[in-house]
Amino acid sequence: VSGPADIDGVSSSMQVLYDRYFQSRDYQQRYPRPNASTLQCVLELVASRALRVVDVGAGNGRYTVELLRSTPAHVTASDISGEALAELSLRLGEEALDASRIQLVHGPVEVLPLENYDLVLLLFGVLSHAGQRSQRVALLQQLASRAHSGTRLVLSVPSVWRRRPFEMLRALASRIWKNRRALELGDIWFSRIIDGSRADFFYHLYSLSQLKTELADAGWALVKAEPESLLPEWVISQSPWMERLDLRVQKILPAPLGYGIRVVAVPL
Ligand SMILES: C[S@@+](CC[C@H](N)C(=O)[O-])C[C@H]1O[C@@H](n2cnc3c(N)ncnc32)[C@H](O)[C@@H]1O
Repeated sequence: VSGPADIDGVSSSMQVLYDRYFQSRDYQQRYPRPNASTLQCVLELVASRALRVVDVGAGNGRYTVELLRSTPAHVTASDISGEALAELSLRLGEEALDASRIQLVHGPVEVLPLENYDLVLLLFGVLSHAGQRSQRVALLQQLASRAHSGTRLVLSVPSVWRRRPFEMLRALASRIWKNRRALELGDIWFSRIIDGSRADFFYHLYSLSQLKTELADAGWALVKAEPESLLPEWVISQSPWMERLDLRVQKILPAPLGYGIRVVAVPL
């Protein structure tokens, strides 16, 4: 595990919150399994090849563990939360997975080794926690500098049409009344109770066109967009029955109406 480098304001508050979230085991209980369609998309891209994959914001390794279990890929799992990586480490030990194919990196993307990865994962809102637009674009640029012409980026973010309308309105009101121009449309703060006390998370909600532009500004071209699910992630992660139902509906759901929007992008 490499040590963390300096991280900015939003990221350092996210680091504290996610440490609490993972330490309390609330995250594991809320999202016990990976999203089935996102996992399928990732496994299809790996296609049983020994690719070099980087799972950025890997959390407790919902996707990393599955990749190690069912493919010969070499995975670098990075996260700003040391507690997330500690939980992932425990899981690797419990499942006796091949330790020679995994590298854990603690810290922001800047501390990732300067390798050319074949597949870059940024799953389930990691980008949305990275801060305001310039910080999100900088994160995507860091990843572009670790890509080669055949690299694929799989990314999923919350849809502005489906998530947190109350917080959106509150952020809008605050922009108008307090003249907080720094806050971009889609930037919100939301609260969650973790281990009995309140935690405030920064989040950016995306439209598909905004995501496409942000990716382009960071050196990525969007090639595919799909809904990540119809139902909330916690529902399908906890109920295999709901997950099966959701997989059927996803086939006819436009990407922007997904609970999350999942895209595949390539270097420009
Ligand atoms: C919603 S969780 C998603 C975790 C995992 N990808 C999954 O699907 O379960 C967001 C994760 O992103 C991490 N994170 C937040 N901001 C980050 C940043 N700037 N760089 C790297 N990781 C970050 C958090 O610590 C947390 O583990």
